[in-house]
Amino acid sequence: MEKFDVVIIGSGPGGYIAAIRAGQLGLKAALIEKEKELGGTCLNIGCIPSKALLTSSDHFTFVKKEAQKHGIVVDGAHVDLAKMQQRKDKVVKTFTGGVRALMKTNKVATFEGLGTITAPGKVSIKSSKGEQQEIETKNIVIATGSTPIELPFAKFDGKTIVSSTEALTFTEAPPKFLVIGAGAIGLELGSVWARLGSEVIILEFLPRIAVGFDLELSNLLQRSLTAQGITFHLEAKVSAVRIDNGRVIATASKGKEELKFDADKVLVSVGRRPFSEGLGAEKVGVEFDEKKRIKIDKHFRTNIEGIYAIGDVIAGPMLAHKAEDEGIACIEIIAGKAGHINYDAIAGIIYTNPELAGVGLTEEQAKEKGLDYRVGKFPFRANSRALANEDVDGMVKFVADAKTDRILGAHILQHAASELIAEAVSVIEFGGSSEDLGRTCHSHPTLSEAVKEAALNVEKRALHIINR
Ligand code: NAI
Repeated sequence: MEKFDVVIIGSGPGGYIAAIRAGQLGLKAALIEKEKELGGTCLNIGCIPSKALLTSSDHFTFVKKEAQKHGIVVDGAHVDLAKMQQRKDKVVKTFTGGVRALMKTNKVATFEGLGTITAPGKVSIKSSKGEQQEIETKNIVIATGSTPIELPFAKFDGKTIVSSTEALTFTEAPPKFLVIGAGAIGLELGSVWARLGSEVIILEFLPRIAVGFDLELSNLLQRSLTAQGITFHLEAKVSAVRIDNGRVIATASKGKEELKFDADKVLVSVGRRPFSEGLGAEKVGVEFDEKKRIKIDKHFRTNIEGIYAIGDVIAGPMLAHKAEDEGIACIEIIAGKAGHINYDAIAGIIYTNPELAGVGLTEEQAKEKGLDYRVGKFPFRANSRALANEDVDGMVKFVADAKTDRILGAHILQHAASELIAEAVSVIEFGGSSEDLGRTCHSHPTLSEAVKEAALNVEKRALHIINR
């Protein structure tokens, strides 16, 4: 029986990054994946294909609606969806192929099949062809990720009632597209199909979209998306979905009002749940919490010696970059080093246009905690580069401790927010203040100057707006 130092189950961003780090540290590592391709949800049916379609559809919107403002006249612009989907598939293939190559160069053994823990230190692998083998290991890292939550009255059929997986592969834009849930998935995929010609209606149970993000910026995002043609119904609890003659008929209650919708397809994007089916963890005594997440201590150790867990299958935000950093920290701990994660410095991003990004405390959270805080804001319409780009939607907002000036949170709504937020993440990671950031020389003319200006404005010192 082949023996390893560490066996990682699941090859998503948490698992494959953990495998690379194990290889770098000279551990004999194995990576088990039940699907044909490595990379998990993020690379194959999540972050990467959705970003490919978001970019393509954003370019189309630019050509159709924005180019003329720049003096560019494009007649007859139209979408070749088959080609757009092919490009997306190529991006995914290039990346998953790259991950496989990385496993080779880092001397990580890869196994195709469903990994099941049969005992501490023992993992059996059942391939799709039904072949079974067992491997031995000193340590096991569970990185099996998550799967979409189904509504009991709207079971996925993969055609009309779909999850994000199928909503990434439509061969034509559904004329009427209903989306349940205004979280990251609903807003991103709703945007893709609205840009490509669908009439998109988003139903959200809460009185706001993008829960978890700063409320003020979420409301501004809703306004932008509404202007782009998406219809929102907030405080709308979907209670029934049925298929009639191939069409979706959905009912939602909004207070005492009953709303009825008919559509060609419905995307159910009401969250994801940890995925641990067939894993054997329960059988060997691994403890789970009330949300079926694997319980771990600060060192990613489960209650069973030699079994660790990282990523979506444990508590915390279901984000690829959180899983990656946990993978690194977990392997470093296994290798006898000091792995650590600062959970206050993990940004969340929704890749709409404008993008919404946030790290640390929102203003509402600072208020709820009773903290003494100050806020600094700066709108992109006062930023020279945003004006030159004709991209003035959005703002930057900092929440800083009133006494120490330490940055507690940063929130950005802008076309390039996903890139701009990284600066605030770094400053938070280093325990920096708004003054530190405000006194850092930023290149001109750049969008990042708006980040500096918002930091300066914690003390009402922004230069390009009038503070009264
Ligand atoms: P989510 O948890 O972000 O949002 C789901 C929304 O559905 C919530 O606002 C909830 O109030 C609403 N909802 C629930 N039941 C409902 C009902 N019956 N009727 C109407 N509304 C209802 O979940 P989502 O968007 O499915 O994403 C799943 C996970 O994947 C999240 O943890 C998210 O962070 C992650 N993700 C992150 C992305 C990113 O970072 N850009 C992209 C895609 C997913």
